[in-house]
Amino acid sequence: MRLVVTGGAGFIGANFVRTVVRQFPDAHVTVLDSMTYAANRASLADLPSDRVELVEADCADTAATDQLVAGLTGPGDAVVHFAAESHNDNSLASPGAFVHSNIVGTYAVLEACRRHDVRLHHVSTDEVYGDLQLDDPAKFTPDTAYNPSSPYSATKAGADMLVRAWVRSFGVRATISNCSNNYGPYQHVEKFIPRQITNILSGHRPRLYGSGANVRDWIHVSDHNSAVLRILERGEPGRTYLIGADGERSNLQVMRMICELMGVGGSDTAGGDPGFDHVTDRPGHDLRYAIDSTATREELGWQPQHTDLREGLRQTIDWYRDNRDWWEPVKARVETRYAQTERVL
Ligand code: NAD
Ligand code: DAU
Repeated sequence: MRLVVTGGAGFIGANFVRTVVRQFPDAHVTVLDSMTYAANRASLADLPSDRVELVEADCADTAATDQLVAGLTGPGDAVVHFAAESHNDNSLASPGAFVHSNIVGTYAVLEACRRHDVRLHHVSTDEVYGDLQLDDPAKFTPDTAYNPSSPYSATKAGADMLVRAWVRSFGVRATISNCSNNYGPYQHVEKFIPRQITNILSGHRPRLYGSGANVRDWIHVSDHNSAVLRILERGEPGRTYLIGADGERSNLQVMRMICELMGVGGSDTAGGDPGFDHVTDRPGHDLRYAIDSTATREELGWQPQHTDLREGLRQTIDWYRDNRDWWEPVKARVETRYAQTERVL
């Protein structure tokens, strides 16, 4: 099996490449990554060089992408398309990069797969469906209408639409997955969970947007990737699969769990110092995401394995504690950027 993994030097993509190398001794992976600020060579550095090749290129560069996709000639070969600008806060400050990578990049990947008749899996997000009310009984399903809120989610929705059109109009053999919030090792410290963990490890206070009432549906990155592998094996071209692990928690709940696991702060309910700061809320902040992954589970026989969020967070905290070399070089720059807009409430 030969795979081209776009965005394979980022968080989920690198975890995916590591899983493939571990589980499939005959697999060869070419990582196509433009090595933005979100990429890290160290996430792949210990993998065997005869099994994993890193090609630094923009997936929107049609010639570079075409050349790599042309090499996928075997029946089990595929492109797994993770590459994207992925952070909502950045999309509010600089949306142009999101249009380029997420829409133009996906267009170039689709055209290469079309030209060479190569199987494609497109990795998308639950954010394309917009947000839910806290008491909304319905979760997102494959039939939920698209209603994206931010430049990030709008460009991911646009990419999904391109994939659907290329399936229908040109017969491209593509599947799509829409997954909920991932956590685990190798996640950039700009994101919620690693930001709080590394703030505490650096002697700084964690930062909660607004009241922390917003709900995210957490899934361990290994479970996301096991579902992507199952879709590659058994998924039906043209279909959309939702991936989630029933991990809904408010940001406040997750923050309290991290603080408690790391021995920070007292009880905020008792009026003491909670150990974290409430800061300026994100403009247009989506209230709640929730995935109904029943169809994926029933049709593909997939189940998430890491369903104990507390245990997953404990392991993730240990990983950041043991891998300071991986995140420390970029931490100060991320916090300097946040400091430009963030105010303690
Ligand atoms: P990430 O930001 O950690 O990594 C993205 C990677 O893509 C980086 O290595 C970056 O260099 C690369 N990249 C960006 N633009 C590129 C371009 N034009 N050409 C080539 N490479 C480019 O993101 P992530 O959290 O690993 O997310 C990966 C994918 O999964 C994204 O498509 C994202 O929308 C989707 N997703 C993420 C989550 C989540 O919780 N993080 C949940 C659901 C879906
Ligand atoms: O739902 C899937 C999406 O999850 C993915 O498509 C995105 O790529 C991924 O970044 C993630 O988006 P979110 O915006 O939900 O993730 P983020 O980690 O940025 O924030 C999670 C929640 O925590 C969100 O409600 C904002 C809040 N937050 C975030 C940061 C960085 C804080 O309260 N404090 C923070 O410091």
